[in-house]
Amino acid sequence: MKAAVYYENGPPSVLKYEDVDDPVLLPQGIIIRVEAVSIEGGDTLNRLGGALVTKPHIVGYQAAGTIIDVGAEVTHLKRGQRVVTVNAFGSHAELRSVFARTAWVIPDGLDIKQAAAIPVPFGTAHECLFEYGRLKTGETVLVQAGASAVGLAAIQLAKHAGARVIATASSPERLEKLKPLGLDHGIDYAKDDVVAEVMRLTDNKGVDVVVDPVGGATLQSSLGSLAYRGRVSLVGNAGRVPQKVDVSNLMPGNRALNGVFLGAEIMSDRVHDMIQRQIDEVAAGRLTVVIDSTYPLSEAAAAHAYIESRKAVGRVLLIP
Ligand SMILES: NC(=O)c1ccc[n+]([C@@H]2O[C@H](COP(=O)([O-])OP(=O)(O)OC[C@H]3O[C@@H](n4cnc5c(N)ncnc54)[C@H](OP(=O)(O)O)[C@@H]3O)[C@@H](O)[C@H]2O)c1
Repeated sequence: MKAAVYYENGPPSVLKYEDVDDPVLLPQGIIIRVEAVSIEGGDTLNRLGGALVTKPHIVGYQAAGTIIDVGAEVTHLKRGQRVVTVNAFGSHAELRSVFARTAWVIPDGLDIKQAAAIPVPFGTAHECLFEYGRLKTGETVLVQAGASAVGLAAIQLAKHAGARVIATASSPERLEKLKPLGLDHGIDYAKDDVVAEVMRLTDNKGVDVVVDPVGGATLQSSLGSLAYRGRVSLVGNAGRVPQKVDVSNLMPGNRALNGVFLGAEIMSDRVHDMIQRQIDEVAAGRLTVVIDSTYPLSEAAAAHAYIESRKAVGRVLLIP
């Protein structure tokens, strides 16, 4: 099969389009013919510095396609079904092998490109807001990097839950695109002081829940934006800088900082079913998947470079 691979970590140019061996079917797994790859924020970080667990390495968490082979122990999936799949690696390819547990059947009528971009961002945003953020109706949420895929999902889910939604992004143009999804107030964090703006917008109370996929200096502003009993869900390192933060405001305000990792519980019934509900909500038109652009799989390097330019709002897809 053809795949976008790399032999060493580095910038987007390490990605090469090559012939590699077809993946091996697991007894508990399936093989899909990939029709749409959703390039996740973590894919660009893994390319930059993640472990090369296969050689050459095929990066990528998330892709959708049609099942062409089913492992002996799998009883609930069959050839010909359309599924969206998640795995630790292997999405940037014509074929992929995954555990059946991390495949979700795509409802009839839902576009496969939209489906390809649901489980990780929507599942992660849901965990940040509800499982770890314990968001309640009427509370206020701050979504850092609101124009990221996790951010776009978090804005919609928070709004649907009856929250007031504040988000940051690196330009006014990016913030503008978040308004139709439920944004109440945008903060240009390339220019404005986030904590000062949050305090101004909340009459100095602060926010109840922060979704932070950026880390570093942004995480410090997340902590500083918290209300009494506020909760930060730290879920990523999109800022690409080490995280050294002052946590001294947590204890006096009964505040909390939680790390969130979707992968740790993705095999559980709770998370599997929660992701299925997100897929069903998109299929029903109640949640929106924003697709920025598509590239051929052979142009994976250009697609990764475009994502790192921070111009994309929504997912960039690769089509084999
Ligand atoms: N823990 C988990 O389970 C989990 C699950 C999913 C994702 N994640 C993590 O969450 C983060 C976001 O993922 P995603 O898929 O939503 O990413 P994405 O769609 O690619 O968006 C990333 C956004 O981060 C912002 N950003 C801030 N500093 C940046 C920098 N130095 N370089 C590039 N972008 C920067 C950019 O928006 P602005 O330009 O507007 O700032 C960019 O659009 C990633 O770190 C990912 O690994 C973690």
